[in-house]
Amino acid sequence: MDPHTEPSAVEVIRDPRDFQARLIRARHAGQRVAFVPTMGALHEGHLTLAREGRARVGPEGLVAISIFVNPTQFGPNEDLSKYPRELSRDLVLCASAGVDVVFAPDTAAMYPEGEQTRVTVSSLTAPLCGVFRPGHFEGVTTIVSKLFALSGPCVALFGRKDYQQWRVIERMTRDLLLPVEVVGVPTVREANGLALSSRNRYLSDDERARAAEIPRALGYAVREWESGARDAARIRDEVDTRLRAIATSVDYIEVRDADTLEHYRDESTRAVLAIAVRVGTTRLIDNVVLGEESAPV
Ligand SMILES: Nc1ncnc2c1ncn2[C@@H]1O[C@H](COP(=O)(O)OP(=O)(O)OP(=O)(O)O)[C@@H](O)[C@H]1O
Ligand SMILES: [Mg+2]
Repeated sequence: MDPHTEPSAVEVIRDPRDFQARLIRARHAGQRVAFVPTMGALHEGHLTLAREGRARVGPEGLVAISIFVNPTQFGPNEDLSKYPRELSRDLVLCASAGVDVVFAPDTAAMYPEGEQTRVTVSSLTAPLCGVFRPGHFEGVTTIVSKLFALSGPCVALFGRKDYQQWRVIERMTRDLLLPVEVVGVPTVREANGLALSSRNRYLSDDERARAAEIPRALGYAVREWESGARDAARIRDEVDTRLRAIATSVDYIEVRDADTLEHYRDESTRAVLAIAVRVGTTRLIDNVVLGEESAPV
């Protein structure tokens, strides 16, 4: 059967050692490997990462995606137990996006009995989401390290929606001298500009309408910047006012140095406007690099 015409033909591997052996064989056969780590409940954002991976390794390469709801990146009061899990639907989507291998391990296999090892990135994880989700990035860098060790990818793809995560993984990869090219893929959005996220499904119709203000507020900031405004504090305050009007609560709305994530100081630094707000009980994040990205809407 031709795997490219049979949508259910995607190869699913559950055992970490089997996944590792499969990708070692691929590399020995000369295939370049692209890898996309996810928590499943896949959407067009994830599939865009997979397609970008395919573009980078070519038709002869291998595209692998992991689907693993990683417990160590959830806080004690977060949504680990109710996080959407829908593997069979995800597999159909992976096949449609030309993914070759899906790695879907269970928790015990990724965290062996007695495990006591964590990978930590320091300064970049301190601000923004680091303040509101203690331990989150340590969970992310730990699981991504394990997944890189198993998959040995040439290129790994991350979404810029999770801007801080992308920069943290990039830093970790450089610091650990890993031979992996980390690619940040631009945020995929709905028609109204809302960044796609697996957690968007928690939104009611009313909340979804309110959430549409997020890309509009980011768009306002982009246009101000494009028209020459550099008063980051004033732009931030206006975005703050707009988002407080629709949000149930605000975690942060900040303009930061786009490279170091330290406070934005002056025009010698690239600026990222990053936000995290709750609409109802759903926590939404978004960002835009001012002067580089176009307005989401
Ligand atoms: N809208 C998007 N555009 C581009 N990449 C995305 C988008 N949403 C998620 N990604 C990327 O997909 C990868 C896997 O993310 P994840 O599985 O956590 O999905 P998610 O939609 O962010 O879910 P959640 O909102 O529950 O965190 C990450 O690199 C993430 O940045
Ligand atoms: Mg996510």
